[in-house]
Amino acid sequence: MGAVIRGIGVYYPDNIVTNADIEKMVETTDEWITTRTGIRQRRLLPKDSPLMASDFGTFAAKAAMDKAGMTADDIDGIICANINPDKQFPATACFIQAKLGVKNGFAFDVTAACAGFVYASNMAHLMIDAGQAKNVLVIGAEILSRVLDWTDRNTCILFGDAAGAVVFSQGPKDRGVILSQMKSDGSQADVLYLDCVGGGSSSAGKGMAMDGKQVFKAAVTEIADIVKSTLAKAGLSLKDLDLLVIHQANIRILNAIADKLELPPEKMIINVDRFGNTSSASIPLALHDAESQGKLQPGKLVALAGVGGGMSWGCNLLRW
Ligand code: UT7
Repeated sequence: MGAVIRGIGVYYPDNIVTNADIEKMVETTDEWITTRTGIRQRRLLPKDSPLMASDFGTFAAKAAMDKAGMTADDIDGIICANINPDKQFPATACFIQAKLGVKNGFAFDVTAACAGFVYASNMAHLMIDAGQAKNVLVIGAEILSRVLDWTDRNTCILFGDAAGAVVFSQGPKDRGVILSQMKSDGSQADVLYLDCVGGGSSSAGKGMAMDGKQVFKAAVTEIADIVKSTLAKAGLSLKDLDLLVIHQANIRILNAIADKLELPPEKMIINVDRFGNTSSASIPLALHDAESQGKLQPGKLVALAGVGGGMSWGCNLLRW
């Protein structure tokens, strides 16, 4: 069975925080943020909001189901990727299941940081292909503003809050996900991490920590390599690729990957300027933009690729 995307939905808070607003919070400038990252604004949930990641995920999932023309009864699996779940357990996907009124199938979370959406999409494909599920919601839902160290200008300027969701459904074998690859390098676990609330089983939590330069280098190398090798495994090459939808971390990372792969700007989606880095939500958010721009036409070859803490990275290749 093929696993095709039937609907894409997004959710983000109304509250826009510009670089000028960030200038009032930490010692930085609009010029530094724009030239080093390409970010001009991000959506941040107001501090006093009662919303949780599962609310974000539910709003995005509902929008994706509406697009797919589906109700709660049609959904038989929910996989939610995130780095800041509602609770340590149960899974945020379980809260989303209840909020959507879905009664069937399974719900679980995937922890692969900014590669989470790609990992979750691979699982949805494998389950649909194996006949274990017909319609699977894959969601990336992040309220990162609550886990940032707002005194650390190296990290707090980069991130935003958002959610994105897609409905994967059974479809023809020659459509949807063709092939996926997932990779991790646990020896680099300390370059990007977030301690558990209360310390977890390691140390006391202080907010997200990152070796930006190391992440930058790994992101460019690993994404370029995995896109090329996934295409090669499918018997395809870069010239066959119509669109590359990459995790939106930094415009310089996106441009360096485009250069390495010799991809023209029209084959990339860029929205990091409007949303910042939204971790597992960034790929469905970019996919939603691709759809709005009319770039997801039948027959197009589309690659999704993400990289983040773990280090973890991956790629899904889809025939639209
Ligand atoms: O989803 C994956 C998650 N993370 C990422 O993708 C991040 C990947 N890395 C990056 O995007 C970049 O490494 C950053 C944007 C984080 C940093 O850019 P950089 O070009 O690697 O800058 P840097 O860390 O080398 O810092 C350069 C200078 C430093 O000052 P000195 O030591 O040269 O005097 C920093 O202290 O810029 C300073 N700096 C800042 N200045 C103003 C660092 N952050 C800021 C800031 N405002 N917000």
